[in-house]
Amino acid sequence: MSSTGPPGPGKRDIVAMLPDAVRNDPLQSATALREDYGDVVKFPYHPSVGGSGYLVCHPDDIRTVLLTEQTKFRAHETRAREDFKVVMGEGLVTSDGDHWLRQTRMITPMFHKQSVERFCDLFVREARRAAAEHDPGEEFELLREAKRIALRIIGQALFSTNLEEREPDIYEALTTLRNGFKRRNYSPVSPPLWMPTPENRRIHEARDLLWTVAEELIEERRGDADAETDLLSLLLTAEDEVTGESMTDEEVRDEVITFLIAGHTTIAAALTWTWYLLASNPAAHRRLYESVRDVDLDSPSLETIGDLEEATRVVKETLRLYPSVPLMGRETDEPVELGGYDIPESATLIISPYLAHRDARFWECPSAFDPDRFRPERSDDRHEFAYFPFSAGSHMCTGRELAMLELPLVISAVVAERRWTFADGTVPDVDPDFGINLEPDNPIEMRSEPWP
Ligand code: HEM
Repeated sequence: MSSTGPPGPGKRDIVAMLPDAVRNDPLQSATALREDYGDVVKFPYHPSVGGSGYLVCHPDDIRTVLLTEQTKFRAHETRAREDFKVVMGEGLVTSDGDHWLRQTRMITPMFHKQSVERFCDLFVREARRAAAEHDPGEEFELLREAKRIALRIIGQALFSTNLEEREPDIYEALTTLRNGFKRRNYSPVSPPLWMPTPENRRIHEARDLLWTVAEELIEERRGDADAETDLLSLLLTAEDEVTGESMTDEEVRDEVITFLIAGHTTIAAALTWTWYLLASNPAAHRRLYESVRDVDLDSPSLETIGDLEEATRVVKETLRLYPSVPLMGRETDEPVELGGYDIPESATLIISPYLAHRDARFWECPSAFDPDRFRPERSDDRHEFAYFPFSAGSHMCTGRELAMLELPLVISAVVAERRWTFADGTVPDVDPDFGINLEPDNPIEMRSEPWP
């Protein structure tokens, strides 16, 4: 093993990094660190960590951390993850150790491709409804619309209800959490969540609203033996094959909130960026329309996805440029070597799909929107860890199969009916803004039109 640590800015250089930190721009500061110091960087401060750590950028090292030597690393208690515990409790995203393992054993089968196939119908139904809700010429804000579609879908997948009446309140609560957690995460000091500051009170009120919705639905369902089979009923009846235990109401609530948040904010962000990129690239948009207009979406299934290759490439390319989860954290359980450098025990690591997906060593013209780069002939030779929007290893996204059915089906079903384009005919000036997920930093006004 080598005997040196990786390069990085000294404590004094932190002054140079402060503008990015103050602008709440962890992606910009991570990009600058890689450009200045290389594939493994030791940093004295990064806004997403709130302290020192290591940025790990080369796909070889990312594979080591996420997959081949994953037992040497655990999910890091980033500030965001700690805050989220207040809302998601011991759900899959925020738990660890034996509890996480038990929950994973029970929950993973619910999200296998064959298990989520039955939601294909729901994806198309809700997408067609959204397309029909906007008359030709009507204008709407893209992220708000994407969140409405995604929430209606996760509501029905979880509870067999589209949460229609509660949608505006849930939207408000999630926006409060996003803004509150983002502000807390990127300010150098923030008061602990138990302190009754106005911001903390708003966060707790938002949390209470989500918990009340989940708890009411769980209580109703416990008393209803003939209920539909949805994710809630699967959670309530799941039994762990090792311990024979099932979940308490509190454990079910934590998972329900986890799916509600993880399963709709990620999807809404991805839908938003997909339309932003399609509307910015009219030729790609039309090619997608031509590829889907004759596909029969009336009884969609896994087979239908095989007919939506262009839509699937568009989604993959969108998640390359704008991965919904652009940074993730790990912590070393023992000293390790990465990229030829020594990393000590209990060190914080940051890994970024956003950076890897735009690395010019692995991607030709990395900032260009080019769905064809996901054709087999152009991707077979690519490093397998140059692209990992759903992470890898034991913490790999539970909902990845669902997402890769939902996104192409929703996009295809809307595009087959309507051309959603920028309201004022010009590409708006937006940048990615990393709160809970990667959202645009400004509203994007769209107009619905029939295809000419
Ligand atoms: C565009 C869609 C999505 C993207 C890009 C995405 C991305 C990710 C990523 C990168 C992670 C792993 C973070 C890490 O390694 O630390 C993750 C974890 C997770 N995701 Fe997703 N996700 C998406 C959709 C969904 C959906 C639809 C659901 C559920 C309905 C979901 C549920 C989860 C859960 C429960 C975890 C925690 C897994 C664990 O630690 O055991 N995600 N997601």
